[in-house]
Amino acid sequence: MTELQQSILTLKKKKNAVILAHYYQEKGIQEIADFVGDSLQLSQKAATVDADIIVFAGVYFMAETAKIVNPTKKVLVPDLKAGCSLADGCPPDAFKAFLAQYPNHKVVTYINCTAEIKTLTDIVCTSSNAKRVIDTIPLDQPIIFAPDKNLGKYLIAETGRDMVLWEGSCIVHEAFSLEKLVELYKLNPTAKIVAHPESETHILQVAHYVGSTSGMLNYVKASEAQEFIVATEAGILHQMQFENPAKTLIPAPSKEDNTCACSECAFMKINTLQKLYDCLLSEQPEVLLSEEVIEKALIPIERMLAIN
Ligand code: 13P
Ligand code: SF4
Repeated sequence: MTELQQSILTLKKKKNAVILAHYYQEKGIQEIADFVGDSLQLSQKAATVDADIIVFAGVYFMAETAKIVNPTKKVLVPDLKAGCSLADGCPPDAFKAFLAQYPNHKVVTYINCTAEIKTLTDIVCTSSNAKRVIDTIPLDQPIIFAPDKNLGKYLIAETGRDMVLWEGSCIVHEAFSLEKLVELYKLNPTAKIVAHPESETHILQVAHYVGSTSGMLNYVKASEAQEFIVATEAGILHQMQFENPAKTLIPAPSKEDNTCACSECAFMKINTLQKLYDCLLSEQPEVLLSEEVIEKALIPIERMLAIN
C-alpha cells in the first residue's frame, strides 16, 4: 500500500466516511474502497450507509443517486467534472419536449442520467436489471427508453417490446471496432467475447455474453474458458484479473489506432487518489440537490429497487 492510500484510510476513519467505487475506477482507488460494484450494487449499498460521509469514486450521476437514496449523508466527489456522455447528452429541456411528443408512454430511464431527468421518469433501471424492469410493464403500455439508444436496441431485441428511444450513446462503448474484434477472435478462437450492452448492436451480436459490469465478472468467473475478449471500459480488468489470476483477458480493440486508450472512460479516470484525499480533507466538492429534486427522483429509483 502506498503512503497516499494509507493517508486516505486514516482520514476516512477519522471522518467516519466510506468510499464507494465503481469497477471502472483506477486500480489504486478500487484497492482502498470499502465497496466496489456496478451501478445497481452501488445504489443499493449507498442506501444502507450508516457513516457520516460517502465519498463516491465514480461519475457524477452515480454520486447524485447516492445522495437521493441517502439524503442525510454528506456525499463527496473527487472531481465535479466526472460526467458521462449519456447523462450529458440528455438535457432536461430537450427531454421534456421529447416526452411531450409521446403522451401516454411510460418513461424508463437508464440510471446514467441526471437527477433532473430522473424526476421526469416513471422507473429507473441499470444494465443489470433493465430487462426485468421492462418485463414488469404491461404489454399494451407504450414505453419511452432513454438515454442510451444502444442499450435500448438491445432491450427491444431481448424483450420484444417496441420502445421509443432517445438518441444517446456512450462514447467509450461506441469506440469498439467490429472488424478488429473479429480479427482478434480469429487469432484467439477459444476465447469468449464479453460485452457491455452500451456497445453497438454489431458488437453485441458477436458476443458470447452481454451484461453489466458485475454480470461480466460473474460470467468470466464461472466460465471454463481460459481466454476472454472484454468489450467494456478497461478499469474492469483489475477486478477480473484479481478474481481469475490464471485466465487471459484481452481488451477489445477500438476503431482508432492501437495506441489510443479509447476503452478508458475519461470521466471515470478524472478521479485520482490525490483528488480523493483532497476531497475527504476539505469535504468538498459536495453533491447538493434541492429537496424537491431528491423527493421526485427517489420515486423511480425506489420502484427499481423494489423490483430487485
Ligand atoms: P454498470 O451498471 O454495468 O456498472 O455500468 C455503468 C456504466 O457506466 C457503464 O458504462
Ligand atoms: Fe458514461 Fe460511458 Fe463513461 Fe459509463 S463508460 S460513465 S456510460 S461515458
